[in-house]
Amino acid sequence: MNMVGIITKKKLGQALDREEIDFFVEGAAKQTVPDYQLAAMLMAIRLNGMTAQETTHLALAMRDSGDVADLSAIPGIKVDKHSTGGVGDTATLVLAPLVAACGVPVAKMSGRGLGHTGGTLDKLESIPGFQIGLSEEDFVRQVNEIGVAVIGQTGSLAPADKTLYALRDVTATVDSLPLIASSIMSKKLASGADAIVLDVKTGSGAIMQTLEGSIELAKAMVDIGTLAGKPVSGIVTGMSQPLGTHVGNALEVKDAIDVLSGRTKGDLLEVSLLLGSHMLMLAGAARSEEEARGKLTAALDSGAGLEKLRQMIAAQHGDPAVCDDWTLMPQAAVIREVKCGQAGWVASMDTTALGLAAQAMGAGRIRKTDPLDYSVGFILPVRIGDRVEADTPFCTLFARNEIEADAAEAAVRRAVTIGDAPVERPPLWYAIVTKDGIRKACIIASDGAGGLFPDRTDMQSKNTL
Ligand code: URA
Repeated sequence: MNMVGIITKKKLGQALDREEIDFFVEGAAKQTVPDYQLAAMLMAIRLNGMTAQETTHLALAMRDSGDVADLSAIPGIKVDKHSTGGVGDTATLVLAPLVAACGVPVAKMSGRGLGHTGGTLDKLESIPGFQIGLSEEDFVRQVNEIGVAVIGQTGSLAPADKTLYALRDVTATVDSLPLIASSIMSKKLASGADAIVLDVKTGSGAIMQTLEGSIELAKAMVDIGTLAGKPVSGIVTGMSQPLGTHVGNALEVKDAIDVLSGRTKGDLLEVSLLLGSHMLMLAGAARSEEEARGKLTAALDSGAGLEKLRQMIAAQHGDPAVCDDWTLMPQAAVIREVKCGQAGWVASMDTTALGLAAQAMGAGRIRKTDPLDYSVGFILPVRIGDRVEADTPFCTLFARNEIEADAAEAAVRRAVTIGDAPVERPPLWYAIVTKDGIRKACIIASDGAGGLFPDRTDMQSKNTL
């Protein structure tokens, strides 16, 4: 077998067999195939696509290129949750404690921010003292003792994906559905969970900005999970505006604490309850969304979810007092309140631009080695569909200095369009994809009153991938 023959086959649009995919992936993991051939292969896949079978083989070969975590010492069904990346998306910090408070173990490996999107590890590290690097033994012990741990990757998970992802970044081949689906699923399958809930974002801040593309991505990942013998639910949720109102690391921790303490209702809570419901169902802890939601809401109302977060922070050497006193978190030097400045309706948001604005303030990295400023970011209380007046609060900026606050103010203003006609609120979620088919539905985004639950409007035919 040689790489030129495999590249030629994909260049001609033919399907690769398992041995050919294994050869390519082993070459990436062991660096025995040079980068120029790996890059040519990635471009051939980007241009000619892959069948569902090839995509699954690719994901499994990448999973098997490194360690596969063994969580069998944790009793019960371990359900992981993964988001394809968003802005103001701190659902993990809300739902992990809530799900654990319902008795379902949460053993989660999370990632760092990527481009305009935030990362759970960076948010957790904004809590003074918090450690994301536990050994596999301590990880398992913590989950068995308190029911929840969120850490960085242990061992060497999917090293082939590491090589290929770095090459995709510099060869314009990130935006390939089979490459995205296999990349995400290789790592999820290697992290040892028994079942997976995928939060597939759609809209202006998502990796797949069209609804069709997002549903296709969800289908591809559910198919990989199914063929690998793991139950997977793919929930397509909206990212046409930030999920929570807070963007930035310490600010997003505050948003999660506010939700868990019952002070904040709204879209972050609703999406967390939806994803958490599917986690409980896959774990066998509830038979329906309604039953699961009832359990999660009870854990929220009793304070058990917030208590789980406190326990997790303490177990991972952080200061749990941040749950009661946000001034213990890193504080920005400049805090600036900005008004809307014009009357109208919030019409649209360029959510990627909002994420990039936070990144430019120091909340995200431009180069991999850039240090973060955990204190910076913004609170954007306005939502698409809101009626605003000139003196309505538009955003609060948390910046390192006045110059960066000026730049952020201009960027956030550019990213949010205020129009002169009423606009419908975007749905919170669009589709739920499982091995049994696709359920499409829309709910109007919560206006802060909370308590809305999906209205099923349409059952679609079976997933045919
Ligand atoms: N996240 C990943 O892990 N891989 C991709 O290809 C895209 C997003």
